[in-house]
Amino acid sequence: MSDATDPSNIPSGTHVLHRAIAHRYPVAVGGEGVFIRDAAGKDYIDASSGAAVSCLGHSHPDVLAAMRAQLDRLEYAHTSFFTTAAAEELADDLVAHAPAGLDHVFYVSGGSEAIEAALKLARQYFVERGEPGRRHVIARRQSYHGITLGALAVGGREWQRQKFAPLLIEAHHVSPVYEYREREPHESAEAYGERLARELEAKIEELGAETVIAFVAETVVGATLGAVPAVPGYFKAVRAICDRFGILLILDEVMCGMGRTGTLHACEQDGVSPDLMAIAKGLGGGYMPIGALMLRREIFRTLADGSGAFQHSHTYTGHPLACAAALAVQRVIRRDDLLANVRRQGAHLARRLNERFGNHPFVGDIRGRGLLQGLELVADRGSKEPFDPARKLHARIKHEAMMRGLMVYPMGGTAGGERGDHVLLAPPFIISAGEVDMLVDRLGDSIDAAVG
Ligand SMILES: Cc1ncc(COP(=O)(O)O)c(C=O)c1O
Repeated sequence: MSDATDPSNIPSGTHVLHRAIAHRYPVAVGGEGVFIRDAAGKDYIDASSGAAVSCLGHSHPDVLAAMRAQLDRLEYAHTSFFTTAAAEELADDLVAHAPAGLDHVFYVSGGSEAIEAALKLARQYFVERGEPGRRHVIARRQSYHGITLGALAVGGREWQRQKFAPLLIEAHHVSPVYEYREREPHESAEAYGERLARELEAKIEELGAETVIAFVAETVVGATLGAVPAVPGYFKAVRAICDRFGILLILDEVMCGMGRTGTLHACEQDGVSPDLMAIAKGLGGGYMPIGALMLRREIFRTLADGSGAFQHSHTYTGHPLACAAALAVQRVIRRDDLLANVRRQGAHLARRLNERFGNHPFVGDIRGRGLLQGLELVADRGSKEPFDPARKLHARIKHEAMMRGLMVYPMGGTAGGERGDHVLLAPPFIISAGEVDMLVDRLGDSIDAAVG
């Protein structure tokens, strides 16, 4: 028998198939605000909100109270028999603050499920409109849309797709918006965005517009590129192309949405509204697993007037406890005007990162929006040459940060294939200026130790 509260017993006595099988994970036993505590009593500043999840930090009393109240009423009711007040009120709340035109919500338990639902709903929509020939999905390279087979197929992280390639549905990929490496030296940001829009247009024409279902993109690329927003005008041009060809625009706001970039939806800052939008992570803030697919009125009407049902559901769709938790998270964000804090502390974080790393020999780029910021590491700033992937710099940074009581979200493959490293930062919306300073100091020490 192993004592699960003793970190020294992990993983020798573990029956959990952990992410990295040989890694010795500390045991998390508590959390408050922006900190998580392990079983040895060490506190970690959660500068990535896990993976951009814990937007209210840990143990928020209002969310816990709302969850307890829901549990006292009803823990679960299957959606083939009932709806619940929690599911209805959360949908009302999401629709009241949605991008223009989105007026229904389909609940799931996380981001991958939201993308799977988006792909199937997009396909069903066209079948019910009498366009069964539409079968192609276009997405972007260096993107992440989730780990299940459909989401993996549209995602553009090559190293993650390779092993499973024979099982994946066909998907097509165009270039991401990746200004740091792919904008030509004499090209304006607008001209670069226009060039990428033309690439999408050419891909649609190559496949035959009448065969294309949707274009899928993260509004701000999260874990794969490290907080990379689009250039001005890009999404407006993409929206216009989708409209011209009658193709659906699916925005993946699983990571960048629900306030993370300083507006409730990242696409508000790009001046567009999608046809389908996937949200998760910050929707429930980690208090319960929950995600959602938001859909445009016309898609809803097509199904309502057609077959009468979306041919897709899960056992835990609309779980009342998850909906109650998410509703409480969203109410706290509004009541406490936390999006203003995201903008304020996002600006402070960007300033502090530029002060600390602006002249750092191994930091090539600092980018992001709101409290979604990224640093790209390079071996040479002039040539932008990445570090040798064999060094696994991103993993070393994570290790050094954890030693210093700091959780960040580093990743490799930034520059394509296995090359390139970045660090993603996504602290809780409640973070203070002092805590931002603390995280930047610890990050500086961690990066210096890892590259040294
Ligand atoms: C942009 C994006 N889409 C989809 C997903 C998948 O979400 P989940 O891990 O909840 O399935 C993620 C997860 O990191 C993500 O960042």
